This record gives sequence, C-alpha cells and structure tokens, in this order.
Amino acid sequence: MKLLVTGGAGFIGSNFILYWIKNHPDDKIVNLDKLTYAGNLENLKEIEKNQNYSFVRGDICDAKTVNNAMQEIDFVVHFAAESHVDRSIAEPATFVMTNVIGTQVLLDSAVKNNVKRFHHVSTDEVFGSLELNNSNKFNERTNYNPRSPYSASKAGSDYLVRAYFSTYGLPITVTNCSNNFGPYQFPEKIISLAITNILENKKIPIYGDGLYVRDWLYVEDHCRAIEAVLQKGKIGEAYCVGGLTEDINNLEIAKKIIKILGKDESYIEFVKDRPGHDRRYAVDWSKIKNELGWQPLYSLDEWLEKTVKWYTENESWWKAVKTGEYQRYYEKQYGRN
Ligand code: NAD
Ligand code: TYD
Repeated sequence: MKLLVTGGAGFIGSNFILYWIKNHPDDKIVNLDKLTYAGNLENLKEIEKNQNYSFVRGDICDAKTVNNAMQEIDFVVHFAAESHVDRSIAEPATFVMTNVIGTQVLLDSAVKNNVKRFHHVSTDEVFGSLELNNSNKFNERTNYNPRSPYSASKAGSDYLVRAYFSTYGLPITVTNCSNNFGPYQFPEKIISLAITNILENKKIPIYGDGLYVRDWLYVEDHCRAIEAVLQKGKIGEAYCVGGLTEDINNLEIAKKIIKILGKDESYIEFVKDRPGHDRRYAVDWSKIKNELGWQPLYSLDEWLEKTVKWYTENESWWKAVKTGEYQRYYEKQYGRN
C-alpha cells in the first residue's frame, strides 16, 4: 500500500510516519510538507534513508505539486494545517488558505486519482466550547460551533471533506481529536512550552484564570486511532478521539509538570487571556471504542512523565527550534521576559 501523508514534518504527522513505518514496514509513504515554521525534518531523521519513504517539499494549495504527489496513492492521511489558535488570531488569512483551500485542492486531486481513502485529521475544537462544571462531552452528533479562526477553518475543511463524499463519492473518513501532547511538539502549545520553559528556567505563561479545561490525548494513542480508522473505519464516517483525562485544567497541568521536574509553583505566571478563549473541551470517544475497538493505552500522568523525560533527553531538538522566528513570535505573544 502507498500512503500520501500531508504535513508529515509536523508534530503529529511525523509521529504518525514513525509509527506507521515501524508497524507497516512494507508500505510506502510519501510525505508532502511545505516546511513552514512548524515543519521539521529532524523529527524524521531515523527513517529519512528508508527506501519506502520519500519527502516532497511543497504546498498543498498548489494543484500541480499535489497532483504529482498523488500518483499511485492508495490512502491519503491529511495532517497539513496551520494548527495554533494564537497564531490564527494574529493571522487568520494563512489559516483559511492552508486549512480550507489546501484541503479542497487535495480533495480534487484525490477524486481525479481515484484514491481508495481520504482520511482527514480534524479537531474537537470545531464543536466550540463547553461549560465548566457539567458532564457534557462532544460526540459525533454535536453541532459545529467553531469560535476561533483556527477552528472555523478546520470546520470549513471538515465540511468540504464530507461534501466530496456526498457529491463525488470520494471514500473519506474523519477523526476529530482532542489536544495532543508528546515528542516533537512545537513548543508553542502549552505542554511543550511549559516543559521547555522550565528547563530553560523560565516561567509558564498561564492565560486568564488558568481554569480552562482541555481533553489530553497522547500522540501515539492518536496514531493508533487513525490506524484503526484506516483499517476498520466506515466510509463517510467521523470518529471522535480523546484521552483518559477527566476535566484537568491548565493550572493543574502546569502543576503536574512542575512537580515532575522537581520545581515549585513560582514558575507559574498569569498573563493576559486569549480573546474568545474556549472554556472547556471534553470528548466522548465511545463510538471508536465500541465500533473499532480503540482506546487510549495509558493515563495522562504516565504519558506526561514520558513526555517530560523526552524533552529532558532531547534538549538539542527543542533548543534548535526555539531560535529565530520562534523568539520573534514569543516576544510578540508574551512580551519580553
Ligand atoms: P503542526 O503545526 O505541528 O504541523 C503542521 C505541518 O503542516 C507542518 O509540518 C507544516 O510545515 C505543514 N504545513 C502547513 N501548511 C502547509 C501547506 N500549505 N502545505 C503543506 N504543508 C503544510 O500541526 P500538528 O499539531 O501536527 O497537527 C496536525 C493536524 O492535526 C492538523 O490538521 C491539526 O489541525 C490537527 N489537530 C492537532 C491537534 C493538536 O493538539 N496538535 C489536535 C487536534 C487536531
Ligand atoms: P494550546 O496548547 O494552544 O491548544 P488549544 O488552544 O488548541 O487548546 O492551549 C491549550 C490551553 O492552554 C488553552 O486553554 C490555552 C492555554 N494556554 C495558556 O494558558 N498559556 C499559553 O501560553 C498557551 C500557549 C496556552
């Protein structure tokens, strides 16, 4: 089988490629990635010479590049996106371009080339925000209500993927997953930012009151969920994917990381809140569990310890990332410190 992975040099895409090559060594993988600030071929060093792996640098908005990469592809696994909410608030146009237009260009090419599956990696953020202190969770029947330019652009891409199923019969599947964490995450997202900041003896910036809740999914559990959907998922269906967490807020996440690293709570710094900040996400993943037999492997605490260990042992990876453009972004977002 031959897979086209878009955005394979990013956080989840690179974890997926490493996972897939390890578990499906006979499959071929083409990685199409523009290498934006978030793309990093260092993530794929261990497999870059593998004969079944090839890399194409290109933009998913460019129909010619996409069409060339789509030749003889069986499955498309579409990760490429602009993925950070704060950047979407500062620069929404790039999000609409890549996430909406880029997805549409890929879909057209997938139809033209008769791919056997187009799997779209989406987010629980398309569902909007839940209230604190109730037991509601997002599921596959929850109405879309995106509230940031990022989630609105992902919702737009989800709708297009579904439309290509209804209109052109493209065999699609979608996963809407919660917040991922793990190795190779660009240190702009809260867990990788918090760990690497403490390792640099800097504070963790906590937005607003810190009582915002996310559902946390370890990246390898996510890769296993996509594998289950590729192998056993029903064409035309979406699956919600979440972790083994029950309403942990950002302050609690920061405190857990501080504890693992043996520091004290003076490392927490409350900063200005994010505009339109979604209060709470929680995911009901019973459909993928009941229909495809997937569930997360370990608890948040176990995965968090492994993740902290990975960043501690891979300082050269994140130190190289936290330079240049990153410094400029950090100053703009958080001010000098
Ligand atoms: P990321 O920002 O780490 O990586 C995105 C990758 O896409 C980068 O390698 C980048 O170079 C590439 N890319 C961006 N624009 C491109 C373009 N125009 N053409 C080709 N490549 C381009 O993102 P991530 O965290 O790995 O997320 C992957 C996918 O999963 C995204 O679709 C995101 O919406 C979704 N998702 C992420 C999370 C999360 O917690 N990180 C949660 C739910 C869903
Ligand atoms: P983030 O990792 O950006 O993911 P998302 O916005 O897609 O959920 O943020 C996770 C939570 O952490 C969210 O409630 C915002 C909050 N947050 C902070 O408190 N400080 C920060 O510096 C960042 C980046 C996020």
